[in-house]
Amino acid sequence: MKPVKVGICGLGTVGGGTFNVLKRNAEEIARRAGRGIEVAQIAQRRPNPKCDTGITPITDDVFAVVDNPEIDVVVELIGGYTVARELVMRAISNGKHVVTANKALIAVHGNEIFAKAREKGVIVAFEASVAGGIPVIKAVREGLAANRINWVAGIINGTGNFILTEMREKGRAFEDVLKEAQALGYAEADPTFDVEGIDAAHKLTILASIAFGIPLQFDKAYTEGITTLTTADVGYAEALGYRIKHLGIARSTEKGIELRVHPTLIPADRLIANVNGVMNAVMVNGDAVGSTLFYGAGAGMEPTASSVVADLVDVVRAMTSDPENRVPHLAFQPDALSDHPVLPIEACESAYYLRIQAKDHPGVLAQVASILSERGINIESIMQKEAEEHDGLIPMILLTHRVHEQHMNEAIKALESLEGVVGAVVRIRVEHLN
Ligand code: HSE
Repeated sequence: MKPVKVGICGLGTVGGGTFNVLKRNAEEIARRAGRGIEVAQIAQRRPNPKCDTGITPITDDVFAVVDNPEIDVVVELIGGYTVARELVMRAISNGKHVVTANKALIAVHGNEIFAKAREKGVIVAFEASVAGGIPVIKAVREGLAANRINWVAGIINGTGNFILTEMREKGRAFEDVLKEAQALGYAEADPTFDVEGIDAAHKLTILASIAFGIPLQFDKAYTEGITTLTTADVGYAEALGYRIKHLGIARSTEKGIELRVHPTLIPADRLIANVNGVMNAVMVNGDAVGSTLFYGAGAGMEPTASSVVADLVDVVRAMTSDPENRVPHLAFQPDALSDHPVLPIEACESAYYLRIQAKDHPGVLAQVASILSERGINIESIMQKEAEEHDGLIPMILLTHRVHEQHMNEAIKALESLEGVVGAVVRIRVEHLN
């Protein structure tokens, strides 16, 4: 049988990795796919020194690939929302299948893209868009299809996890670690996407959609970054038996779906609390299976290429099948998606870590406790440290039981207005993941 012809748009980190893996493992891949997979054209802005593209035709125009009648599958690896959207929509219009690693594109424009793909009977595969080399989309969409998914919690940004790990283990400065992550090709073109949680929110939006059968709703995701985390809080968390991780959490509740990315204290003995460096991990809790954990490299040249190539194999296997009988893009049949709402952060529920800078006066602790108890907030533990030498203030660290964010917001406002409390109260959410 003739090989399937693939056009790669973008020969950067992931594009280069994809080309190399396809070439190196060509025989093994063909044995799995049932046909060879040939890169018939590449669109690149500049050559990738890590790729020997040999005689493969090269263009600098991605649309030349999309419009090339010889190409069966377009691999979109240029990133971003604008040109990538146009490219993918045009590829679909031209009747071509698409494989993409572009989480921003899927999270923001996925509903429109999948509708168009259904109309044209083509596949849009996006395994590499979430957690790099971990086949978590396939696992949730297919492997856990028996379950009512309760929640998903993941470390789904390698750059952020790398930064937090280096800061905690080596006391390195934030900026310094970020530069290294950029040099290693982990960070997004705009690294604020990594450190402000936007990249993780893109991925979480996709995971939530395939876990709960809801449309993609990136605009409803709550995001909070890691740029304001201090080494003091990292240390206090450790002393209390926790690790701080930048977590994406999607939880199904009776009232709606929680969709939130923020720094989170996790008990240090949880496996996911020990996922370090650029590694990613996603926990998925289903009613039948219980908790599962998927771990691996969340970014990087060949780990991400591993997912892109796996998608290509899937496309090759399914391209001759009846479109109606393929695995639905978002796991659930398109006419069976639910309108269960995504909840605003104020309606979400979690436990909290609070750090209060208190004056060294009698009665401040009693006032703090009474503000929390008046709002039904149950204190789990309190740790009070020695007065700081530079300002004489006492760091008071509290862990609370689970409470609605709205109640915690009101309590924090009241705490900050106490005469004995100085400055803003630091609040970090706590999840036990059990
Ligand atoms: N910037 C992303 C990360 C790349 O650091 O996880 C993979 O999506």
